[in-house]
Amino acid sequence: MRIRAFHTEGFRIAAIFVAIFALSAAVFTIITLVIVNQEFQDQIVQFANADIASVKDGYRTEGEGEAREVIRQRMAAPGASDFFLLERGTNTKLEGNLAVMAPRTGILTLPYPGNAAGHAILGVGSFVAPDLYVFSGSDLYHARLARRRILRTLAWVFAGALILAVLGGMAVSRGFLRRTDDIVRTCRAIMAGNLASRIPVRGTQDELDRLCETINAMLDRIAALMENLGQITNDIAHDLRTPVTHLRHRLERARSQAATVQDYDQALEAAIAASDDILALFGALLRIAQIEGGARRAAFAPFDLALLLAQLCEVFGPVAEDAGHRLNPAIRGPVSILGDRELLTQMFSNLIENAIIHTPAGTQVLVGLDREGDDAVVTVSDDGPGVPPEEHQKLFQRFYRREASRTRPGYGLGLALVSAIAELHGARVKIHSRAAAGFSIVLRIPLSQS
Ligand SMILES: Nc1ncnc2c1ncn2[C@@H]1O[C@H](COP(=O)(O)OP(=O)(O)OP(=O)(O)O)[C@@H](O)[C@H]1O
Ligand SMILES: [Mg+2]
Repeated sequence: MRIRAFHTEGFRIAAIFVAIFALSAAVFTIITLVIVNQEFQDQIVQFANADIASVKDGYRTEGEGEAREVIRQRMAAPGASDFFLLERGTNTKLEGNLAVMAPRTGILTLPYPGNAAGHAILGVGSFVAPDLYVFSGSDLYHARLARRRILRTLAWVFAGALILAVLGGMAVSRGFLRRTDDIVRTCRAIMAGNLASRIPVRGTQDELDRLCETINAMLDRIAALMENLGQITNDIAHDLRTPVTHLRHRLERARSQAATVQDYDQALEAAIAASDDILALFGALLRIAQIEGGARRAAFAPFDLALLLAQLCEVFGPVAEDAGHRLNPAIRGPVSILGDRELLTQMFSNLIENAIIHTPAGTQVLVGLDREGDDAVVTVSDDGPGVPPEEHQKLFQRFYRREASRTRPGYGLGLALVSAIAELHGARVKIHSRAAAGFSIVLRIPLSQS
């Protein structure tokens, strides 16, 4: 069976750490053993040197008898060397528990009496007098025993740590797997059509959590775009029907009723105008979609909002007068903002046009600009018939037109475009209006962001 936990990044990282740990444990063990061995041997040699010094001392002060006495005492005392030999020439043993041997000086390793396995003697040989040789040394077995014990203890510790590391690695990778499974499951659910599905976030703020949050945010954005797209498709399907049907009727009527070339000419003229209207409607819809998609943000540049509004008032002043209205500017500037000049021009034109089109003759229209804190505040208001508060939100929907406005030109897209452009600029839009109490729309455009 293929165990999935072994094939994860978490387990791979754990395995690398185990390998590094094993290598360092091996190096540590070797160094420890060398140090312990050296320490034991140094101690044996130190003891032997001390023994030999006392033997030499005894010999110098009281002769050979005292030297033998020192050896006897040392052999009986605890904490001294294990083996001694005092010999004359090469074959006369005077004292000690070792057999006679050829005298050699310095640090020596001798075979253990009876050649017992694992044992050996380490010691020091020296001449007390030209013909008098002394050797003192101890069994190396203890050093070897200690070495073996250390090795065994370290092996246990190492095995324990290895097991813990493997288990830890598996636990970590299983946690990792569970979370990648969450991601995979969510992606599959989305592919299967459940667009509302999101990856559960633990709130631990670790890398995976941040990844999940980012994916979720991306999914939110995609869902919003899809919804927008769906909405537009719906709008096109429903609301383009009417003008296209009108066009069709008009053409049919021309075919059945037109008698002269002039009649046909007129009918074609009307059909072309109707198609232009439909194209304009398409254009407006696509424009809203493009703005809602955020694609226009790249065209942002700084400009003076006061100047823009003043120019618009100049353009719309005569239009307002023609409709029997008055357009009053109340612009305080300059107010420099960062934004898409063309889009903002369209946004304010729509608002001023609404105030002119949807109000009776004699209405006063006001276009105001002021600064409040970090916002540029633009107000377009009129003292016309107004709109009851419960309808305010609906006005921003695509194609929404009030009953009273149906006879006037337009498609009900103006305020939807205003809403999209305002959102693109991080601006807040608010309608203040009541039935028969005027209509006022206030835009707060942040100076810093927009
Ligand atoms: N200043 C206003 N006073 C009264 N009603 C208004 C005012 N502005 C807008 N409305 C109402 O809100 C509706 C939606 O406005 P919107 O600008 O979205 O569409 P429209 O003006 O009808 O058509 P379009 O702007 O696409 O040419 C209008 O049909 C009108 O009923
Ligand atoms: Mg309008």
